[in-house]
Amino acid sequence: SDPGLVERARAAKAALGDKVFVLGHHYQRDEVIQFADVTGDSFKLARDAAARPEAEYIVFCGVHFMAESADILTSDAQQVVLPDLAAGCSMADMATAEQVEECWDALTEAGVADATVPVSYMNSSADIKAFTGRHGGTICTSSNAQKALTWAFAQGDGSAPAKVLFLPDQHLGRNTAVRDLGLSLDDCVVWNPHKPNGGLTVRQLRDARMILWRGHCSVHGRFTLESVREVRERIPGVNVLVHPECRHEVVAAADRVGSTEYIIKTLQDAPAGSRWAVGTELNLVKRLAGRFAAEGKEIVFLDRTVCFCSTMNRIDLPHLVWALESLVDGKVVNRIEVDRETEKYARLALERMLALP
Ligand code: 13P
Ligand code: SF4
Repeated sequence: SDPGLVERARAAKAALGDKVFVLGHHYQRDEVIQFADVTGDSFKLARDAAARPEAEYIVFCGVHFMAESADILTSDAQQVVLPDLAAGCSMADMATAEQVEECWDALTEAGVADATVPVSYMNSSADIKAFTGRHGGTICTSSNAQKALTWAFAQGDGSAPAKVLFLPDQHLGRNTAVRDLGLSLDDCVVWNPHKPNGGLTVRQLRDARMILWRGHCSVHGRFTLESVREVRERIPGVNVLVHPECRHEVVAAADRVGSTEYIIKTLQDAPAGSRWAVGTELNLVKRLAGRFAAEGKEIVFLDRTVCFCSTMNRIDLPHLVWALESLVDGKVVNRIEVDRETEKYARLALERMLALP
């Protein structure tokens, strides 16, 4: 990265001292991640943001829904900055508040809303999190989806377990239900927000244990069963390690599955000489390949035709320098601020997640 910009970022951070706290998601570029005070997956970063009451400014190097969650979990006096407002998430955009209300109306008409607990992936807008909180549900991330679903199914009225509406990543929902909770694929139906009644019959809504929203990650959704077959052929003895946002057949064919934090830990603990094909965002895979090469671990990207998360990559060093230098000048740029009413219910859902055993 540009040495002039590196120096400016360093100087701005030094000038701000403890007033600023920089969080970096594992998918961020190297040029940005070097300035993060902490790095982590979505769950760790939400907790870390909440644990910094002394920081006046939280600069979030990640995507919009993460910055919103940080704003919800921090005090009103703390200001959250997203260095580029165009850093959104295509998956989070796949569930709008109106669409989710329509779905809830259909569940109410089918007579099943009372028995349904919403579980929303962190990768959703603050509106969706507020919807979740208002209807007694919880947020989850890829590192605690199993716990969140176990909790949600246990919210039944005693005569029957609850039904779950899982938003917005159908793959994480399906993978967790089937792999970790022993549900069958037939227990799950997919709600398509672009079709009348989600493309489902009332009978299907009544019979399903799990209603999955038709959303997916535009990066992880690109890995295929063919990617797994090809890498196994190309690299004998390779271990396939993927994120649970991948399609069900990819997860079923993999050796290990888990969040970004789990992926890092697995590679840390792997023996020298082991070989790994990793199916998650490319910035992280490249960084891990470099870091562990010296320990004799061979790490490759699961499918060379899949590219970076374009929105994560919007946060680059020029944007970070601009955000930090503006703070030095006393100007807060790109502040992310969730309105109070939304924040109240979204916080309820996030706190339910943080309180999961
Ligand atoms: P985690 O940080 O929970 O592993 O999620 C990955 C992701 O896609 C974030 O956008
Ligand atoms: Fe969204 Fe996928 Fe990018 Fe994560 S990797 S920010 S889920 S598009």
